[in-house]
Amino acid sequence: MDKRVLFVCLGNICRSPTAQAVLELLVSQQGLPLSVDSAGTAAYHVGSSPDKRSQQAAKKRGIDMSGLQARAVTADDFYEFDFIFAMDRENLANLKAIQPKNSPIEPKLFLTSYGSVQNLTHEEVPDPYYGGEQGFELVLDLLQEACLKFISVELSCEN
Ligand code: 4NP
Repeated sequence: MDKRVLFVCLGNICRSPTAQAVLELLVSQQGLPLSVDSAGTAAYHVGSSPDKRSQQAAKKRGIDMSGLQARAVTADDFYEFDFIFAMDRENLANLKAIQPKNSPIEPKLFLTSYGSVQNLTHEEVPDPYYGGEQGFELVLDLLQEACLKFISVELSCEN
């Protein structure tokens, strides 16, 4: 059965849908046994498409995010996914606050789970929402590198 991955940020309109789209493209290019989703720990943007700035930055790298729609993370997600990855410590804490007592999995910080990304300069994916275009490029740089590391560790050939 496919392994199931959930990426989580605050609004589910910038970072976690970018992570979803980056990993989904690798899954389709490499034919990997993975299903991918994303969600937010805040509900303000539920039902919205990804932020236009995220979509534009992703499109320049051949990544299509246009079909995604924001949703809020739920306690049930802890039973539906094999991996739940937070984009930053704030959202990791938000996840721990709703984690069921008998949860079969632990939520983790994505960037530090599979070795260092950009030589340990980043342990978190910085929130690009109130910043400029460069922030969205950094989100993609970090997530593209971390997704490759995730695949190489969790889906090596013998698995
Ligand atoms: P995200 O970015 O958590 O990466 O989706 C944000 C989106 C919206 C807001 C904050 C961060 N907001 O405050 O509305």
